[in-house]
Amino acid sequence: MSEFDPSQITHAVLRSYEGAPDPRTRDVLRKLITHLHAFLRDADVTLDEWSRAIDFLTRTGQMSGTTRQEFILLSDVLGVSMLVDAINHEAMAGATDTTVLGPFYVGEHRVMPHGTDLGGDAPGERVLIEASVTDPAGRPIAGATVDVWHADTDGLYDSQKPDYRLDTPHLRARFVTAADGSFRFRTVVPNAYPVPTDGPVGELLRAAGRHAMRPAHVHFVINAPGHETLVTHLFVEGGAYLDSDAVYGVKPSLIVPMTPHDEPTWPDGTPAPARWYRMAYRFALQPAAAADGRDAQARPTTPAPPAIVATRATTVTP
Ligand code: BEZ
Ligand code: FE
Repeated sequence: MSEFDPSQITHAVLRSYEGAPDPRTRDVLRKLITHLHAFLRDADVTLDEWSRAIDFLTRTGQMSGTTRQEFILLSDVLGVSMLVDAINHEAMAGATDTTVLGPFYVGEHRVMPHGTDLGGDAPGERVLIEASVTDPAGRPIAGATVDVWHADTDGLYDSQKPDYRLDTPHLRARFVTAADGSFRFRTVVPNAYPVPTDGPVGELLRAAGRHAMRPAHVHFVINAPGHETLVTHLFVEGGAYLDSDAVYGVKPSLIVPMTPHDEPTWPDGTPAPARWYRMAYRFALQPAAAADGRDAQARPTTPAPPAIVATRATTVTP
């Protein structure tokens, strides 16, 4: 056995992983070790800092489970989620931009009729969201499933509350698009709200002097056969924090005006409150074949990106 040589440690570690049989695993490990070692050298990390980092990651893992995913939140506030999203969704002309899924998607929402008020009798002003799903050329997609969810006026998702049950959803639903690709629903006007700060991610944000706020938004996951799943939000134009979203999820194309109305009835003729709002949007899905825009020759061993929706859908169970 040769003398331990700190200057050679990175090479020694790299050599020991060279035999990984899967080429993609080998490539990713080589890059991970190279960048990680360079980072540790560059930052001149002390033993105490290393120990605190291990403790931070341990607590992040301990706080991650079926109803709370602190690791996803960590990925979000470090910009990793949006970067991975960008790497995997090269912009296709005419297709709607993607953004983070977030930790509060529970999947398989209950199908509700068009026009449903997701807020029920909850307080707060109401907005009518009228939207459609098309392909990038604007051709309507009928029968697409549209999962919708957002926070209440206190900034909490139903799944964050102790009495949460999957069979009594609040401010979440699934709609199925009509023959012309349309769907519509009413809901409570969304507010800006903070990402959870009672765990290690909160410590990180405080240590960095960053706020935890996300601008007001509604989440959408749209699925249609033959098309790539669209994970996105609509943000309310003019709202606070659009320029400083805690998780970097805002894209200009997703910021939508919310126009005030004072007509006494909703467009369907039913009585409306004294003031209500309207938002309109067309979501355009990429054809499945165009979904992975990366050069297959350049990255021959890259597996298809994991189905992010399926992965996240398992993060909350009843
Ligand atoms: C959300 O919008 O639900 C969300 C996204 C990322 C982190 C926390 C919350
Ligand atoms: Fe959200």
